[in-house]
Parts: sequence; structure tokens; C-alpha cells
Amino acid sequence: MKVLSVESSCDETGVAIYDSEQGLLTNQLYSQIKMHAEYGGVVPELASRDHIRKAIPLIKEALRDASLKSDDIDAVVYTAGPGLVGALMVGATIARTLAYAWNKPAVPVNHMEGHLLAPMLEDDRPEYPFLALLVSGGHTMIVKVNAFGSYEIMGESVDDAAGEAFDKTAKLLGIPYPGGALLSALATKGTKDRFRFPRPMINHQGYNFSFSGLKTAVSLAIKEFGDNIDEQTRADLALAFEDAVVDILKAKCTKALKDTGLNQLVIAGGVSANKHLRAAMKQMMDELKGRVFYPRIEFCTDNGAMIAYAGMQRFRSGVKADSQINVYPRWPLSSIDEMYARCKSEK
Ligand code: KG4
Ligand code: ZN
Repeated sequence: MKVLSVESSCDETGVAIYDSEQGLLTNQLYSQIKMHAEYGGVVPELASRDHIRKAIPLIKEALRDASLKSDDIDAVVYTAGPGLVGALMVGATIARTLAYAWNKPAVPVNHMEGHLLAPMLEDDRPEYPFLALLVSGGHTMIVKVNAFGSYEIMGESVDDAAGEAFDKTAKLLGIPYPGGALLSALATKGTKDRFRFPRPMINHQGYNFSFSGLKTAVSLAIKEFGDNIDEQTRADLALAFEDAVVDILKAKCTKALKDTGLNQLVIAGGVSANKHLRAAMKQMMDELKGRVFYPRIEFCTDNGAMIAYAGMQRFRSGVKADSQINVYPRWPLSSIDEMYARCKSEK
């Protein structure tokens, strides 16, 4: 069986085709980063318009690249949330229209489930159950993944998401959008331990995170230097910020692994592209005699492949979209079942 996916939740248009036997057949991506960079962040209206421009050419390219025709596709799967409402509507409408025209079922997919299962696209993949750290621009959570579709959220950020903290701190340091990856590149030139920022909630009970205080601490440190902050100081601040985030994530994951007795850790979402975080988690898992799994970098940030994989699993479990085109800009992973139950009951 083959599914074609459409991902359009934010600033990336992604289209992929996944085969239940052969795996991923093609993965097409168009990033709007350059367009939004001019404005210092994602402009939702521009994102929607650009998804309209790019989705059809990417779908054509995916079919061409996989040497397939529309008849070969068994279902069209699409991101139905969470994300920007207009951007989601574009992808959902295109996917549903195609499914209707091709006389194939359509399957709504939860973007966070896509991120969570992205490591399953790799040959070397974890086995259920495992612990997952989901760190993206909108979410930071620790999830106990018992099986496909069975997710226990153990902890999440009480304020900013980790990626959001990266982006906001990058802005403070004068780094253009999207800040996360560039801040990390700057941090490689930093001097270790010249600055040390607080690690909010690191010793609190439970598995929740807080990142907004950290951003404020960086802002205060920058103010002390005023306008004549030099390049080395910027790099040192970037490294101190990154160190604090990595320490917090490491501490909470260690605790969750010990408490659950799990020995496999998956790190997914845009921030999992961070090299420093990857290295620290690898070392931590070696010490704990466990294993860490990451999706390859292009499956960490938003992409169509992860939506195709999650969509295939949902399709095989019997999910089909109802008669209306609905999107769910806030569709928490914690209520994934309720939304799918509604899908089934509305048919
Ligand atoms: O998962 P994603 O592509 O989109 C959301 O669903 O949010 O994550 C985007 C986030 C942004 O905040 C971006 O700055 C961050 O991931 N990010 C990084 C790196 N690459 C992307 N943060 C830190 N280091 C990186 N190398
Ligand atoms: Zn995402």
C-alpha cells in the first residue's frame, strides 16, 4: 500500500510517498524560510499563499520521482493540526480535493505524532516501548510511547517551547530568523563557562520544563554590554544558553528514563537537529547503558516523510476523514484519540 502525504502546518511545504512494503519512496520539500526571514518570523498569511503555490508542483514532482501515477496511491494523508490555521487549511483542502478526484480515502494526521514517529523512517529504529523527547518550535515534551498510538505525556514546558527559546534568544543576539540553527553555529565559537545561566525547574519534581526565565537571563546579560557587545561575547552567551537548555533536557530525560525503567530514548522535532544536544544525549545514554535514536536531520524539522509514515499507520488502523474538511490548529497529542474517535463517528 502507498500513501501520499501533504504537510503544510507552518513554513515548510512537504510531500512524500510511503510504501508499507518498501518504505519511503520520495520526499519533496520546499522551505519558505527565505521569504519569512525578511520579516524576522513566520507571517501566517504569506505562509498560506506560498503553500498554495508550491503544493501542486511538489505533488507532481513526488509522483514523477517515484515513477508512480495517481492510480498507484491508496490514500492521501495530510497534516490536520496542530499548526497555523490558514496553512493547515491549504494542505487539507489540496489533499482532500486530490483524494476526491482520485476516488481514494483521505486520512488526517497529527503533526506531533509525525515528529514522534520520524525515527521509524530509519532502518535502525527503536522498538516499542520507548521514551521520546519532543523538542520543536511549538512544543517541548517527554512522552512515554507504549506502542503506536499509545502515548503518555509525562511532562511538558510550562511556558516557552525549547525551539521558541532558541529563536527568541537568537533574536536578542541579533541572529536572523530562524534563529535556532544559527545560534547553535555561533555557540561552536564560544568559550565554555565564561557565562553561566540558571537551569529553571531542573530540580523540581516531575518532568515539566520552563525556558522563559532563561531567555530573560540572556537578555539581562546582553544589556550589561550595551551596544558594544563584541562577536566573542555573543558566541560565549550563545554557548552558555545552549549549555543550559541541554542540561535541563538531559536532567529531565535521565529522571524519566530511571523512573520508567526504559532504556531507549528518541529525540525528535526541530531542536533535535542540534549537534550539541545530540552529542550530550548520546553520552548520557552510553552512561545509562541504553540507546538514543534520532531521525536524520531532514526528518527532524518539518517534512512530508514523517506525515506519510504516521498517515500510513493511521490508514492501516482504519482511520478515514469524515465528510467535512476540518483542521485543528490546537490538536494536542494528549487528545489524539478523541479527535480520531470523532473522525470515525462522523462518517
Ligand atoms: O519541528 P520544527 O521544524 O517545527 C515545529 O513544528 O515547530 O522545529 C522548528 C524549531 C525552531 O524553533 C528552530 O529554531 C529549531 O527547531 N531548530 C534548532 C536547530 N534547528 C532547528 N534549534 C536548535 N539547534 C538547531 N540546530
Ligand atoms: Zn514540526
